[in-house]
Amino acid sequence: MKISVIGSGYVGLVTGLCLAEKGHNIICVDKDESKVSMINSGDAIIHEKGLEELLLQNLKKNFIASTYIEESVLKTDLSIIAVGTPFDGKKIDLQYIKEASAAVGRSIEKKNTYHLIIVKSTVTPGTTDDIVIPIIKEFSNKEVGKDFDVGMNPEFLREGSAVKDFMSPDRIVLGSNNDKSNKLMREIYKSFSEVDFINTNNKTAEMIKYANNSFLATLISFSNEIGNLCASQSDIDAVDVMRGVHMDQRINPILENSNRVITGITSYLQSGCGFGGSCFPKDLSAAISFGKSNNNEMKLLSAVMDINKDQPMKIFDLINNHFSDLNNKNITILGLSFKPDTDDMRESPSIPIIRKFLELKANVTAFDPAAEKEAKKIFKTSEINYSKSLSESINEADIIVLLTSWPEFNELHKLINSKKGTPLVVDGRRALDKNNFKKYVGIGVN
Ligand code: NAD
Ligand code: UGA
Repeated sequence: MKISVIGSGYVGLVTGLCLAEKGHNIICVDKDESKVSMINSGDAIIHEKGLEELLLQNLKKNFIASTYIEESVLKTDLSIIAVGTPFDGKKIDLQYIKEASAAVGRSIEKKNTYHLIIVKSTVTPGTTDDIVIPIIKEFSNKEVGKDFDVGMNPEFLREGSAVKDFMSPDRIVLGSNNDKSNKLMREIYKSFSEVDFINTNNKTAEMIKYANNSFLATLISFSNEIGNLCASQSDIDAVDVMRGVHMDQRINPILENSNRVITGITSYLQSGCGFGGSCFPKDLSAAISFGKSNNNEMKLLSAVMDINKDQPMKIFDLINNHFSDLNNKNITILGLSFKPDTDDMRESPSIPIIRKFLELKANVTAFDPAAEKEAKKIFKTSEINYSKSLSESINEADIIVLLTSWPEFNELHKLINSKKGTPLVVDGRRALDKNNFKKYVGIGVN
């Protein structure tokens, strides 16, 4: 199929390249000229496993990037909208969705064949039917259900494993208002035969996405609340407590051959310094505001956000028991990105934590296998010393604070043990074995 993807960020570019790999002809459109020219020169823009390889394999064969939305829409049978949907402090900000819808509408005015538009961005229930469709109608002067349709196909990929998640999805949700558009959407995913399809209306598809992200974020704040209670007691470690919870057969079932299956959901049931990223914080905020505007108070999700807001500062409670003053102390931050395998620092807990260390006049050194470039956009160069290796980063450290569980940090104990001095290790992700360190504190343990 000939497909234009409007918005070529994390979701748009991954979607475009994966669909190109599946044999579709793709034009990835973005209004950011530098992004488009980087993509067309073979640079995948983001740090994402397997993405550059997909780009190099498909570029200029059945994949190209463009800044020309009209030309791209006219050359294709359907358009997928994958622009950002930030939170504006009060509610979901739909400005990019509205702009993209207007541009697609203007373009299909010049088309004399049917065009399908698919909203892939995460949008609050009702957006596709009540905002996108009327805008396209207005700018195209065409009839919905006859000249065009708009479907909703939320995306569930995770950063760090985006290509794998897109290529092997756990389910594909297809929101549509009629059989014609549903069949065309199904056609895009024809070669994804082993997957469960959920066919529904647009509003339900939109709601599924919020329910899913809210569920995952709730598990994290639940685990953090339990972890904070464990840490307030002596002799209880949240890692042991949560391991006891994980072994519930309803979470990690035992097969007939007595082997236990460790499910992916287990990774959301452990204490840490809080969730970040471009989606959980903004999607939960949007869900809370959407609920409130519909007379639903969303008490649970509000608590999930409150717990998460406080969680990064728990790092300082752990340190306070060992250092009363951080003035001029050498702090090594291990991990800047909001999670491993990505360079994305959006809403990363490392940001408020580093700001607090700077406020307390500590000297901050940081090492992250991928996110140094992004960190330099957030912090002044004078604020952080960046190290090129784990070993270099801990040389002078009084305190080592692990904030992202990159596998590169697994060997930390070996490096520390071969150095002079005994820095305090603060494990913000409970990623290390506490028995390997002489001075260790971690979230969820006193
Ligand atoms: P992003 O900011 O990385 O990318 C959005 C892109 O859209 C930008 O490159 C921007 O320049 C472009 N854009 C904006 N308006 C445009 C227009 N009118 N025409 C052309 N290009 C335009 O955002 P993202 O992380 O890819 O997220 C996109 C959507 O997908 C959001 O709704 C998000 O919630 C959702 N989502 C994201 C993820 C993720 O892991 N990042 C996962 C699932 C769903
Ligand atoms: C999340 C969802 O997992 C995706 O399904 C969804 O598509 C995406 O949001 C989205 O809508 O954008 P992502 O944000 O990439 O994906 O990453 P996750 O692996 O879910 O982690 C999110 C945050 O939770 C990270 O900051 C991570 O460190 C944190 N986390 C995760 C914890 O604090 N504790 C945990 O136990 C697990």
